[in-house]
Amino acid sequence: MEAVILAAGKSTRMKSKTSKIFHNICGKPIIFYIVKALKRYKIHIVSNEEAKNTLKKMFPKAEIHIQEVQKGTADALSKAINHINSDAFAVVNGDMPLIDSNDFETGFNLLKANKLDCLILTTFLENPQGYGRIVKDGSGLQIIEEKDASNTIKRIKEVNSGIYIFDTKAALKALPKIEKNEKTGEYYLTDIIKFLNKVDTLNIKSENMLGVNTRRQLSEARKIIQQRIIDNFENVTFIDPENTYINYGVEIGEDTIIYPNVHLRNKTRIGRECIIENGNIIEKSIVKDNVHIKPYCVIEESIIYDNCEIGPFAHLRPMSELKSCVRIGNFVETKKVKIGEGTKASHLTYLGDAVIGENVNVGCGTITCNYDGYQKNETIIGDRVFIGSDVQLVAPVKVGDDALVAAGTTVTKDVEPSALAISRVPQTNKQGWAKKYRDAIEKRVKEKKKT
Ligand code: UD1
Ligand code: CA
Repeated sequence: MEAVILAAGKSTRMKSKTSKIFHNICGKPIIFYIVKALKRYKIHIVSNEEAKNTLKKMFPKAEIHIQEVQKGTADALSKAINHINSDAFAVVNGDMPLIDSNDFETGFNLLKANKLDCLILTTFLENPQGYGRIVKDGSGLQIIEEKDASNTIKRIKEVNSGIYIFDTKAALKALPKIEKNEKTGEYYLTDIIKFLNKVDTLNIKSENMLGVNTRRQLSEARKIIQQRIIDNFENVTFIDPENTYINYGVEIGEDTIIYPNVHLRNKTRIGRECIIENGNIIEKSIVKDNVHIKPYCVIEESIIYDNCEIGPFAHLRPMSELKSCVRIGNFVETKKVKIGEGTKASHLTYLGDAVIGENVNVGCGTITCNYDGYQKNETIIGDRVFIGSDVQLVAPVKVGDDALVAAGTTVTKDVEPSALAISRVPQTNKQGWAKKYRDAIEKRVKEKKKT
């Protein structure tokens, strides 16, 4: 069996520079979901010239046919129909990301069993506005487009889904007979019914046929796809699934708990028994088991091993690798850094271009000064090092195992293992100095007020 996706339209109602088939839903373009649902069939896509190359790259197995001028859905099908080699084929609009592959299977079976020329998939809508209406009267079946419908017809709630199953021979004969619609100058595929003999309808769930013509419908489709993705995770707790954003292809392990407003993007993998609290944005990252990510962290292209604790308000930039039991606290930024097991950087720190050993304590306000205005330089810290608060490590620099860096030190030279590095101006306390200073200022202020 084969399927033709009509996707050459101008997307006028979308009011976008980008064709609607490429608008994103949960990390994938609309057209991706359609091709996925039809993966059992040989796929033809009718495209315009601009979309052609992108589609070829995205779906190398599909046959792309070009409709140069957009003269309607019947004209679009005419670009593909001569390339169909099967007895029957499906046609589907390129703006329907919610289609269900089972509807197509049922459709093909019915077409064969009842020897039909065409099976139209329809549904009943409370608000049928914008859709072609299914008119069934004594003279048979017709589809009347909204633009051409009388008020009586507009009240009909059964609508054309935009999915059709055709007998190939019958469609080949009927398609060229379709005439131009006088009002719009387009050739409507829906008019093919007039030139076919045995036509029937199959009712499908209305959710499966939502067409994305406008931004509003794009957001409606997103909600449903998001719900479907989340419903697939039967062993994961979502505190508030309506306000959780999980992209297509994300993996989450058993007994993980996802709080509201979490965004998991681009192939992120979360392990088991993790807690991902509110507002976290995680993309292209791997999080192993039993990791606790406190609220409002941004994590990109990073790997976090078991039992780590991150955040709140941490920023893990690309190539951060945290071994087991690492603790990254609030307002800590990491980038291109390997952090050994059990190491802690609990507050207000920047760790970039660094290799840090196991069980290191990184004090509050530590900064790896990795950039000299020309290039990035590396900081290497051994195991069990203790770095006091407010330390600057001016890279390239190494601190050996078991060394101690005193608070306030600017490390510019390598530190030997087990050594103490300290760079501080010796402190002097000037007795009575503060009082004298305040008195002088207060006197000056008083004199100013008098004048
Ligand atoms: C179409 C149906 C309508 C149905 C609705 C369901 C027609 C005439 N009407 O209306 O009965 O209820 O879908 O969603 O078919 N396209 C081309 N080339 C063209 C014109 C359109 O490839 O010249 C493609 C579009 O890219 C789109 C699809 O065909 O993916 C349908 O076109 P669209 O303009 O969205 O049709 P609707 O007005 O939604
Ligand atoms: Ca449409």
